[in-house]
Amino acid sequence: MIGRSVIFYDELGSTNDFIKTNFRDMDHGTIIVANTQTKGRGRRDNLWESKVGNLYFSILLKNNICREDIFKYIVCSSMSIVSVINKCHIDCKIKYPNDILINSKKVSGVLIESSGGKKLDYIVIGIGINVNQLDFNSLNDYATSLKKTTGKNFDLNQVLKDFIKEMNKYIFDDYKTVFIDYLKYSMVLKKEILFNNEKYTISEIESNGMIIIKNDVNELKVSSNEISLKELY
Ligand code: BTN
Repeated sequence: MIGRSVIFYDELGSTNDFIKTNFRDMDHGTIIVANTQTKGRGRRDNLWESKVGNLYFSILLKNNICREDIFKYIVCSSMSIVSVINKCHIDCKIKYPNDILINSKKVSGVLIESSGGKKLDYIVIGIGINVNQLDFNSLNDYATSLKKTTGKNFDLNQVLKDFIKEMNKYIFDDYKTVFIDYLKYSMVLKKEILFNNEKYTISEIESNGMIIIKNDVNELKVSSNEISLKELY
C-alpha cells in the first residue's frame, strides 16, 4: 500500500533525490511532495521545470521488489494518472513507456529509478503532473496542463488523493488486466519510428516492457532505453 505517510515540503531539489538519499529512514509506500523543485529531473537527464501550481511527488517502494517489477509499476502509475485525468472529464493517451498526453501535448511524466541487484534496495517512482500552469513559454506547443485544457483551477491535494486511491487499486489488481487497459490508451502501436536510421513500425508492447518493431527485412525486440519516440508527439 502507498500513501500511508505523505510528507509535504515547500521546496526540494528533487523529490526523487530526496528519497534516494533518505530511503533507509522511510517506510515502504512513503510519498514525498514538493510545491516546487529547484533541480527537478526528467528521463534522459532532462530538466523538469517545477513551478508552483503543479504536482511534484515521489513514491518509495522497498518491500520485496525486484527488477522485473519495474515495468509493472510504470504501467500502474501511468494508468493511475490516466484515471485521475479521465475523472476530470479529459481524454488522454499514453506515449510508451510513461508520458501522458492530452491532445498530443505532454501533461505528465514519470521518472522511475532504482538501486540494488536482482533484489532491489528500492524503487522511486517520481511523478510530475501539470495541473494549474498556464504558460509553458518555449514549450507551449509540447506541454499542457489540466487547467489549460479545461479552464478550471484544480485542488492539488485532491488530485494527489485521487492518484493515491487509483494507484492502490492498480498495484493490487490482476496485472494482466491492468496491462490490457494500458494498451488501450497507448498511442504508439502501429506508428513508424526510426531505429539505426531505418524505418520500423511498432507492432507490439510486451507486458515486461519490451517492444517489437518490424520492417520488411527485420523484426527486433527493443527496450524503451534503446529507442527515441520524440518524433511521435
Ligand atoms: C519525464 O517525463 O521525463 C519524467 C518527469 C518526472 C518529473 C518528476 S517531478 C517529481 C519527481 N522529481 C523529479 O526530480 N522528477 C520527478
